[in-house]
Amino acid sequence: MFEAVSLGPLRLRNRIVKAATFEGRSPKRLVTDELVAFHREMAAGGVGMSTVAYCAVSVEGSTDGRNVVLAPEALDGLSRLAEAIHDEGAAAAAQIGHAGPVANPMATKVPALAPTARWSPLTMRRTKAATEDDMARVTRDFAQGAAVLKAAGFDALEVHLGHNYLLSAFLSPKLNTRTDGYGGSVESRSRFPRQVLRAVRDAVGSDVAVTAKLNMADGVRGGLWLDESVEVARLLEADGCLDALELTGGSSLANPMYLFRGEAPVEELAATMPPVMRLGFRLVAGRMMPSYPFEEAFFLPYARQFRAALDMPLVLLGGITRRETAEEAVAEGFTLVAMARALLREPDLPRRWQDEGGAAVESLCVHCNKCMPTIYRGTRCVLRPDSAGAAPR
Ligand SMILES: Cc1cc2nc3c(=O)[nH]c(=O)nc-3n(C[C@H](O)[C@H](O)[C@H](O)COP(=O)(O)O)c2cc1C
Ligand code: SF4
Repeated sequence: MFEAVSLGPLRLRNRIVKAATFEGRSPKRLVTDELVAFHREMAAGGVGMSTVAYCAVSVEGSTDGRNVVLAPEALDGLSRLAEAIHDEGAAAAAQIGHAGPVANPMATKVPALAPTARWSPLTMRRTKAATEDDMARVTRDFAQGAAVLKAAGFDALEVHLGHNYLLSAFLSPKLNTRTDGYGGSVESRSRFPRQVLRAVRDAVGSDVAVTAKLNMADGVRGGLWLDESVEVARLLEADGCLDALELTGGSSLANPMYLFRGEAPVEELAATMPPVMRLGFRLVAGRMMPSYPFEEAFFLPYARQFRAALDMPLVLLGGITRRETAEEAVAEGFTLVAMARALLREPDLPRRWQDEGGAAVESLCVHCNKCMPTIYRGTRCVLRPDSAGAAPR
């Protein structure tokens, strides 16, 4: 795990990746000193690569107006961010995406784009079905965003094909009921995401790594599941635009806890809402956010289906908290392991794993998910309030 490894054109110092956790440190859609400090701390903790969380390809594609938008004016801040990560010896990755039906139209001032128009319980508004012109525009936005990240010195781009954001929504048989060439069969539903991946690859060429974070299962009835997601992955492998696939699941629209497991932090989330909404949220939270028991490496059984079906490099994600889990994943053929909460809890966990040795070095994360609601004030582990760049409490 602690030997250098190749990812496309890159050489990473080890196989551990800091997975995207929206940092809540870009209130004006631009990189801040606090965001730089957050990733400097992650990189100094010893990861091979740190992923800047969700960067939107346009204001329309942002979730709620607080994401970095990959416009030319973001270039200077992004350059500082990549440089800080490099200074600490890690590679710099950024997640790039369009929120689609997960976007909050109150913040973006335009209707949320989706494959098929439908009522969104998340935003209490109807989404807009993407036209071919919309898809062409979004594809151009992805290419422009990718070019901005490359110019800023990022080593890797992770295209968001998960959690029912726009490209993931196109893959979902539940959310995509189009009858044109972009809906229906797996191949047709994959057409727009594949078009975007091709545009991103063309925009950055071969000296930047391009990966995708792909849903294996949406975790909702009628949504994408393994039988089809493995087929999607085969198409992506055949296209040859990607250097690796990171495997995830769940829906930010309809089943968020599926991607975390553990208890939903209902009270802490309610506390972030205006008082008039709290009671209603508490009443529906159990149905909107069903909890799942947390298990170590909870996505591994699903990810093994992809390992068996594909030759391309894969990144295992989801509930990795023990060194031996990471070692076993590598032994099973996963090129990289990605961790989110374990590194929010202890950014220096990779160094601890390396220094203390011994297989059973376990993270101090207790999977309470109380970090989720902190995304509104500077994401941090609540057991670690001194997280770099978080607002004072
Ligand atoms: C506070 C927080 C914010 C997150 N933000 C993002 C995000 O911006 N994009 C994304 O794809 N996943 C996001 N995730 C999900 C993680 O990348 C990861 O998929 C999930 O936490 C499971 O990995 P873990 O068990 O190692 O935490 C977030 C997770 C947390 C805890
Ligand atoms: S708040 Fe801390 S302990 Fe709880 S899940 Fe998040 S990182 Fe882990």
